[in-house]
Amino acid sequence: MTARVNRRWVMASRPDPDVREDNFQLESVPVPAPGPGQFLIRTLYLSLAPVMRMYLIDGAGIEKPLETGETMRGRGVGEVVESNHPGFAVGDIVQGKLGWQEYSISDGSPYFMMYKVEQRLVPFSTALGVLGMTGFTSYLGLTKIGRIKHGETVLVSGAAGGVGSNCGFIARNLGCRVVGIAGTDDKCRLLVDRLGYEAAINYRTEDAEQRVGELCPQGVDVFFDNVGGPILDAALAHINRYARIVLCGRISEYLKSDEEKYCLRNWWRVGQHRAGMQGFFIYDLEKHFPAAETQMAEWIAAGLMSYQEDVLEGIEQMPRALMRLYDGSNVGKQLVKVATPVTTVEPRRQ
Ligand SMILES: NC(=O)c1ccc[n+]([C@@H]2O[C@H](COP(=O)([O-])OP(=O)(O)OC[C@H]3O[C@@H](n4cnc5c(N)ncnc54)[C@H](OP(=O)(O)O)[C@@H]3O)[C@@H](O)[C@H]2O)c1
Repeated sequence: MTARVNRRWVMASRPDPDVREDNFQLESVPVPAPGPGQFLIRTLYLSLAPVMRMYLIDGAGIEKPLETGETMRGRGVGEVVESNHPGFAVGDIVQGKLGWQEYSISDGSPYFMMYKVEQRLVPFSTALGVLGMTGFTSYLGLTKIGRIKHGETVLVSGAAGGVGSNCGFIARNLGCRVVGIAGTDDKCRLLVDRLGYEAAINYRTEDAEQRVGELCPQGVDVFFDNVGGPILDAALAHINRYARIVLCGRISEYLKSDEEKYCLRNWWRVGQHRAGMQGFFIYDLEKHFPAAETQMAEWIAAGLMSYQEDVLEGIEQMPRALMRLYDGSNVGKQLVKVATPVTTVEPRRQ
């Protein structure tokens, strides 16, 4: 009998400074066998996130950096195909740290942050997107950190990305007026036509500061920022008294040295308007995940929320899929579909 093969992406070299496809290498190894108390997972989908390039960089301070030859880290959804673990059975669909590979072993310990995916109304990919960490970041960032209230004006940067693409319907369903900022006209159209935004700004072709003023004539109560830099500055120029600025991400700054980082001109307005700027880390809000999932699943089922996924096919696509985040090609949550489940039927998108 031929041994089953596990294809996995390992780090081939460190970024210098930008991450490139050749920083990764695809290798084939035998599929591991689960030991006592372990189970074998076949990967179905893998998630891509801007923070991933930090995993490759020594001293980035996120987690211990990868060493050359180590399997690239990342979350995924998979199907349990063999199990010696009492809590996980063959056929279970799980979400956790699977790494960039077709098969992985877990013992269900906290390191893997593994949980069973129970939601069976939508494709399993949503456990990495709108009904996973990405959607929780959108929902809890807006509600717990931004504390959005009915009648407020909400502005979102990186609005057509994974996190931002959920923010339009969340803010709208909670009674807010919501304006998005994105990098192409097509993305801006999508925000307004399909993703719950009332208006959108193309920051590459328009003067963002001027357009925020025009589209938010009552000022900005909550700014949900995914990108940092000049776009954050443009938003700060229009904040209201007691505004909340949610520092979710800084994709425009992730690889810049301290000297290269953008210096804000308008930070003084935070003090002037008695506003607050708060960063957050989604895993600190873990106790709120079930409520966030329930609320968004209800909205989706009721036709009050849609979600946007950008899915490439095949594990070979992983480095290319990662690059798409940095060059702005992705529309919505960037995923790679690795395999189709064999023990259960995956729900279709409604
Ligand atoms: N706080 C937390 O716990 C937490 C959790 C998850 C994610 N995050 C952060 O949230 C942000 C969004 O994450 P995501 O996974 O949804 O990624 P994403 O928004 O899908 O990221 C890719 C998008 O970022 C935009 N972008 C790329 N380079 C840019 C630049 N220099 N300036 C402005 N925009 C740029 C591009 O869109 P355009 O075409 O519009 O430029 C691109 O399509 C990231 O910064 C991420 O690190 C934070």
